[in-house]
Amino acid sequence: MKISVIGCGYLGAVHAASMAKLGHEVIGIDTDTARVAALNNGQAPFFEPGLPELLHEGLSSKKLSFSSTISDVQTAEVHFVCVGTPQKPGEYAADVQYVDAAFTALFPYMQAGSVAVGKSTVPVGTASRIAQLMVTQAPNSHLIWNPEFLREGHAVSDTLTPDRLVYGLSDELSAVPAAAKLDEVYAAALSAGTPRLQVNYATAELVKSAANSFLATKISFINAMAEVCEASGADVTALADAIGMDDRIGRKFLNAGIGFGGGCLPKDIRAFMARAGELGADQALTFLREVDAINMRRRSKVVERTRELCGGSLIGKRITVLGATFKPNSDDVRDSPALSIAAQLQLQGATVTVTDPQGLANARVRFPELKYEQDAMMACRNADAVLLLTEWPEFIALDPLAIGEIVASKTILDGRNALEPKKWTQHNWDYYALGRS
Ligand code: UGA
Repeated sequence: MKISVIGCGYLGAVHAASMAKLGHEVIGIDTDTARVAALNNGQAPFFEPGLPELLHEGLSSKKLSFSSTISDVQTAEVHFVCVGTPQKPGEYAADVQYVDAAFTALFPYMQAGSVAVGKSTVPVGTASRIAQLMVTQAPNSHLIWNPEFLREGHAVSDTLTPDRLVYGLSDELSAVPAAAKLDEVYAAALSAGTPRLQVNYATAELVKSAANSFLATKISFINAMAEVCEASGADVTALADAIGMDDRIGRKFLNAGIGFGGGCLPKDIRAFMARAGELGADQALTFLREVDAINMRRRSKVVERTRELCGGSLIGKRITVLGATFKPNSDDVRDSPALSIAAQLQLQGATVTVTDPQGLANARVRFPELKYEQDAMMACRNADAVLLLTEWPEFIALDPLAIGEIVASKTILDGRNALEPKKWTQHNWDYYALGRS
């Protein structure tokens, strides 16, 4: 099947390369010419495990190519729109201008019978609006809303073997052949038994907003429990293990710490609240305000805790922050709790050195005022306190004995409850965690 993928960011680049891996002939489109050139040279524009291999395979087999010229999509039968929907500056709402621009650019090049597939996370109602535009601008073609659930760091396997496929369809007759075309694209996953749900546009859009809101709520729930544990002398990790054994609750996404960040959960819960407000259903989602507030409180909590550990003042203290990215196995620093904490510590007078296996280039652009050091051991030299804020395996494997010899004070704060406390205390470190006495 000939496929186009419009937007080659964290979602689109992986989607394009994965579709080529499945045997389709794929053209990826992006307005960023430097990104297109890099992709055509087999260079992934961001760190995602497995993506360079897929790019290489797709480019060498000639099944995959990239372009900045939208008219190059015209022979494709299925067009995936994968552009971003960032938070609008100064507002909660999502900015859908890139989605609108992508569809508007695509319409003149859609053949009769071809299918546009929206994958971007959008406010409910967007798909119906776009379908309306298609009636005149791309007649005889069809729109399916097919939300994406991939996680950064696992994006390749999540795309090749998704846990479910959601098709948001119109109630027109043309929806049947359009869905059949998308079935052909996803033939491998469908034949492996992946469940496929056919719903209307609004439901498909809401599935994505609801899923991310649920995940955010789960994290903030356990972080709220961490606050109560701190106040009462309980241990949030043991609590999560115990409640997680109930199948109805489950242990996943119950890791307490500095909270969620990234380009999705924070902006998606805010966009969801904003959209519910427009629909007159704002009361239904007021709890998400609390979810957001609990999450942001974790960051200030760590700053306060670090101040206490430094004897009441951060001025002149040397703090080492292990981790810049919003989670391990990614180079994404968008709304990273780790970087946000590092910046707040620096603002309050500390000298902060940040280390990260993949995120330093992006972090430097975002917070040029912080010090960066690629080597974790070097970063810890003379530190008055070490903060683990992103649980990269290489940080968890650090040797407390060796680092103990180069720091100024053997004080570590585990912001992700990821370290083995005994491993550190047996080498005379003062180990502190969140939500654990
Ligand atoms: C999230 C969703 O998990 C994906 O299903 C969705 O497709 C994606 O957003 C999206 O909308 O595109 P992602 O942003 O890659 O994926 O990251 P997550 O794995 O969800 O982690 C989000 C944040 O929560 C990270 O900062 C992570 O450190 C934090 N987290 C996660 C916790 O603090 N505790 C946990 O127990 C789990």
